[in-house]
Amino acid sequence: MKVLITGAGGFLCRGLVIPFEESGAELRLMDVCDFETSHEKIIGDVSNPADVEKAVAGVDAIVIGHMASRQAGAYDEVELPFDANVKGTALLFAEAVKQGIKKVTLISSGAACSVDAKKQGFYSRDLAIGGSGMYGLTKACQEIIAEQYAREHDLTVSSIRTAYIHDMDSMCDKYGKKASEVNAQYADRRDIGEVTRRSLLLEGPRYEIFYALSTPEASTQYDVEYTHKTLDWQPQFTYEAYPRSV
Ligand SMILES: NC(=O)c1ccc[n+]([C@@H]2O[C@H](COP(=O)([O-])OP(=O)(O)OC[C@H]3O[C@@H](n4cnc5c(N)ncnc54)[C@H](O)[C@@H]3O)[C@@H](O)[C@H]2O)c1
Repeated sequence: MKVLITGAGGFLCRGLVIPFEESGAELRLMDVCDFETSHEKIIGDVSNPADVEKAVAGVDAIVIGHMASRQAGAYDEVELPFDANVKGTALLFAEAVKQGIKKVTLISSGAACSVDAKKQGFYSRDLAIGGSGMYGLTKACQEIIAEQYAREHDLTVSSIRTAYIHDMDSMCDKYGKKASEVNAQYADRRDIGEVTRRSLLLEGPRYEIFYALSTPEASTQYDVEYTHKTLDWQPQFTYEAYPRSV
């Protein structure tokens, strides 16, 4: 299977690719900024239709893993986050349909879920969406696009909701912040990669929501059991050696 991954130079995708590499998948990696890789690379903008057409040509599946940079002020305005997160996602789905690609997985977030629903204290798969703030708004829009394309175009689509993306080996997050203790929200990027890879093996058409978190206590706050069961997956990076915080 040849897989396009967008946002491939970013923190999540640099770890997400590892399970794909281990499984022998052929990869085409796309990012708007240059990055080091031994795989086929496309430097392009997901909000540019010509770049998206070129990126999607000839692949069997797409992983939407990009996001507009969190640089200071970027999410205070509409244009940048909507261009990358929302328009970019819609263009990728539209191009998938045009080119007959049936499998797409979106990297989403608990931030796509409505604030009221989150107050229940448990992230179920049927929470209403409608996140708070500009970031949450764009993540909710991405999920709406994903669900509609799956339904109207008979695609197999998964939205993978995760929380605090991390790397257990370095104990660092995307900003280089090092943790000494962990909680239910931690998700190692390689675990997210394996959930993503397995989601692309599902047969459809169907639309799925999967929670991808790494620690055993994640099941107290997120419906990870459905992910374990449906994808026959268990996290490999459970942070066993580290103390827990609440
Ligand atoms: N980091 C977290 O804790 C966290 C938590 C939950 C969900 N997520 C989700 O994970 C995904 C990846 O996040 P990340 O933390 O790796 O972010 P990141 O900023 O490290 O990586 C995002 C990548 O997308 C690229 N990009 C931005 N605009 C683009 C465009 N127009 N065209 C092509 N590429 C573009 C950037 O250059 C960057 O390399 C996002 O969907 C995000 O919502 C992240």
